[in-house]
Order: sequence, then structure tokens, then C-alpha cells
Amino acid sequence: MARRKIIAGNWKMNMTPSEAVKLCAELKELVKNDDVDVVYCVPAIDIVPVVEAVKGTNVEVGAENMYFEEKGAYTGEISAAMLKDAGVKYVIIGHSERRDYFKEEDALLNKKVKKAFEAGLTPILCCGESLEQREMGVTMDWIRLQIKSDLVDVTADQVKELVIAYEPIWAIGTGKTATTEQAQEVCKGIRDCIAEMYDDATAAAVRIQYGGSVNAGNAAELFAQPDIDGGLVGGASLKADFGKIVNY
Ligand code: 13P
Repeated sequence: MARRKIIAGNWKMNMTPSEAVKLCAELKELVKNDDVDVVYCVPAIDIVPVVEAVKGTNVEVGAENMYFEEKGAYTGEISAAMLKDAGVKYVIIGHSERRDYFKEEDALLNKKVKKAFEAGLTPILCCGESLEQREMGVTMDWIRLQIKSDLVDVTADQVKELVIAYEPIWAIGTGKTATTEQAQEVCKGIRDCIAEMYDDATAAAVRIQYGGSVNAGNAAELFAQPDIDGGLVGGASLKADFGKIVNY
């Protein structure tokens, strides 16, 4: 069965609630496409107004992070149940910015992935190498380590629903996109890793996105690769260009 493409915007720390509602209105007609899944991953404070703003459209809402505990004394954190109740469907886990700036490690991310599934959310699990790692020739070793550690005790049925985003750190926000060959090679490597960990059917079902300076000009070629099932888009998701990416 062909995998359905999933094109997600990661708004990062952009858009106040009122700006968010305005952006949803501006993008509404532009992102219409019944053949792909379209997701806006938005800051926590924008979730409630954005869920309201996209009602009746083809857009689903995602969060950019969550905490793994059920509830309790975790000041400043947001639970999976809170996201679910607010109408969220997807949650980004382990973005390189969370790994780098907030020191989120794989053991923690594994707990988050499991909790997200338990709550009925679909994780968008991010992985990717630094420029230094790429130059040292350890890209695939590093990414396999991330995937294997983040998916400990995650079942095949869950992985079939999972979205993995391959985002080379050196391509994020730099305007320096990975070449299609580089992106395809790693996405294929991730699928092979899933086949080894689970089985061929699971590997064939998991959706793998590319992220890192995706724009209206390069989306079509990237998304045409056999192992690239869409994109996780930062900067270009905040403007009309996102409509062109969705309708690549
Ligand atoms: P850019 O598209 O701005 O490079 O960001 C990519 C990204 O980090 C998406 O999660």
C-alpha cells in the first residue's frame, strides 16, 4: 500500500496567538489538498486557537513538545492528555533544537514516544546528524543509534503509525538543503533500520519525512524520492510558500 505523504509545518517559537489565527486564515485556501496529510505543529499557547481556526479544513494540529509524566508537579510542562483533549493529533519529539538547547536525551525521548502513543497521539520523531558527524562519516551510525534508543519497547503496530523526520542539523535554518541523494540515502537507511528492528511490513508502513531548508523550489524533487514521505518545514511554513510545498 502506498504511503500517504505528510507535510508538516514546525512553527518553532514563532506566532503569538493572534498572529497564529491570522496565518491560519491566510493559508486556508493555499494548503487545500486531499491527497496529503497537512499538519501545523505550533507553540503550546497557540494550540487552542489554532485547533479552532482550522476546524472544517484539511489541516491537523500538532504540538512541538510534551512531557512523559501523566500529571502532577512538573511546573511549566504539558502532558500528552492535555494535548489530546485540546484536539492535537501529532507531537514532535526530539527535535534537534530540544536535543541541543534543552539537553533532551534519548532515554527521555523514548519515554515521550511511548507516552504519546499511549495517549493516542502520533509522534513525529526527529533524528539527524551534525555537520561534524557527516564529515567524519558516521551519519548513519549516529541516526541508527538515535532511532534504536528512541524506540525501545515501542511495538511494530505503533511504529506503523509513527512519523520519523530526518533533519540534518546543518541543513536546519541555514538555506543549505541536503541534496536529494543525501536525503534519500538516509531516509532509506532509516527504513532499513526499522526493517531490521521489526519487519518489512513495519518498514514499508512507517512514514519518513525530510526536514531542513525545505522550500517551494526544492519540495517536489525531495518528495519524489522513494523513501521520502513528505517534509517537516520550518521557516517556509510561516508564509504563503507553505501552500506551494503542500501542493508540490
Ligand atoms: P527550516 O525549514 O527552517 O530549515 O527548519 C527545519 C526544521 O527544523 C523543521 O523542524
